[in-house]
Amino acid sequence: MRVEPASAVVGHVAVPGDKSISHRAVLLGAVGEGETRVRGFGRAGDTQSTVRAMRALGIEIDDVADDELLIHGGELRSGAVDCENAGTLMRLLAGLVAGRTGRFELTGDASLSARPMERIAEPLRRMGASIETTDGHAPLVIEGAPLRGTDYELPVASAQVKSAILLAGLVAEGETTVVEPVPTRDHTELMLEAAGVPVRRRQTSVTVEAGPVRLGEVDVPGDFSSAAPLLVAAALIPGSDVTVHGLGLNHRRTGLLDVLARMGVRVAIFNRHRAGREPVGDVQVQHAQLAATEIQPSEVPLLVDELPLVALLAAYAHGETVIRGAKELRVKESDRIEAVTDLLRACGAHVTSREDGWAVRGVPTRLRGGRVDARGDHRIAMLGAIAGLASREGVDVEDDQVVSISFPGFHDLLDSLVRR
Ligand code: S3P
Repeated sequence: MRVEPASAVVGHVAVPGDKSISHRAVLLGAVGEGETRVRGFGRAGDTQSTVRAMRALGIEIDDVADDELLIHGGELRSGAVDCENAGTLMRLLAGLVAGRTGRFELTGDASLSARPMERIAEPLRRMGASIETTDGHAPLVIEGAPLRGTDYELPVASAQVKSAILLAGLVAEGETTVVEPVPTRDHTELMLEAAGVPVRRRQTSVTVEAGPVRLGEVDVPGDFSSAAPLLVAAALIPGSDVTVHGLGLNHRRTGLLDVLARMGVRVAIFNRHRAGREPVGDVQVQHAQLAATEIQPSEVPLLVDELPLVALLAAYAHGETVIRGAKELRVKESDRIEAVTDLLRACGAHVTSREDGWAVRGVPTRLRGGRVDARGDHRIAMLGAIAGLASREGVDVEDDQVVSISFPGFHDLLDSLVRR
């Protein structure tokens, strides 16, 4: 796809429901008591993988509307599940089934099969799980076994690993505690609390006890990570002014807003309210001259999926921006440190990759543009599109259709904001 430069992005939009929360609602609804109605479901490649996975394990799920599901909770049965590209699905599902009766085989596509899985297998085995990886990767074979609670200190800050252990804790004997090196997204904890599960939270740890799950209804707020490319386009392009309505504003997801403000961008939040336990609001971003900033390791989990966009912002900012402590990006859907470095360089930016991030020397004029490859990674495809809008000559994005993994309507929504 060729993305031509925009003279500005202007307007009011809403984005589909949060992917992290949608996955969790389907997984917990499936093992929950009675029916769970999910409103604002973010239908996309990854979340459809989760719906198909639960159907493959015997759960009935009605597609009430494009953004609404009715899940009939029940007992899971043995089965083979293709998790496709969805890392959240594979890791959370492994935890969910580890203590339940049955035999479960979890496979994924080439990208998912290259991602590390011992990080979940190891703590689950400590709880008594029988889980085999293939040299530390998918396919995974899990034989349901009785579990006992554990007290586990995460070696890497990962909400997926934390959530896998907490979901296993739902059927374990005794308490299950996860200690985090730094706080990561807490959608699992919030949803478990809402479902009536005993949850105790401290600043860097969370404890659950076994108990029935009764969700009833879940209202999914707009996905902050899907809105992020639109907000960043507004920050980059002179004359821009974009408001995204009904956005999830869980503060463990909105690190990008703090970074934008530090870089000099005007960020305003209106109409704050809650969807269940999740904070929601409307976010307005207006263009400004950008100043360089620093991203510290403790901040990384708060904007982990937005870091590629921060590197693009840095390319337009006055001064040198350094992003540290983001080594996890090397094991996402692609090696995002290398993918972003290559993409920005192809567009004319001055960027150096480091083992755990980037150093970017910004120039406050439009980048030239060029030809880039999404490498099968939805976040890189969206980054390429925003780089194109903000460029002088446009950007050709190879493999752009991969955006549908998280945001099938991305290009249409973006087009509705673009002034040429
Ligand atoms: C997610 C957690 C993050 C994030 C991913 C979704 C989740 O991964 O990158 O897109 O829903 O828990 P890690 O927890 O592995 O960092």
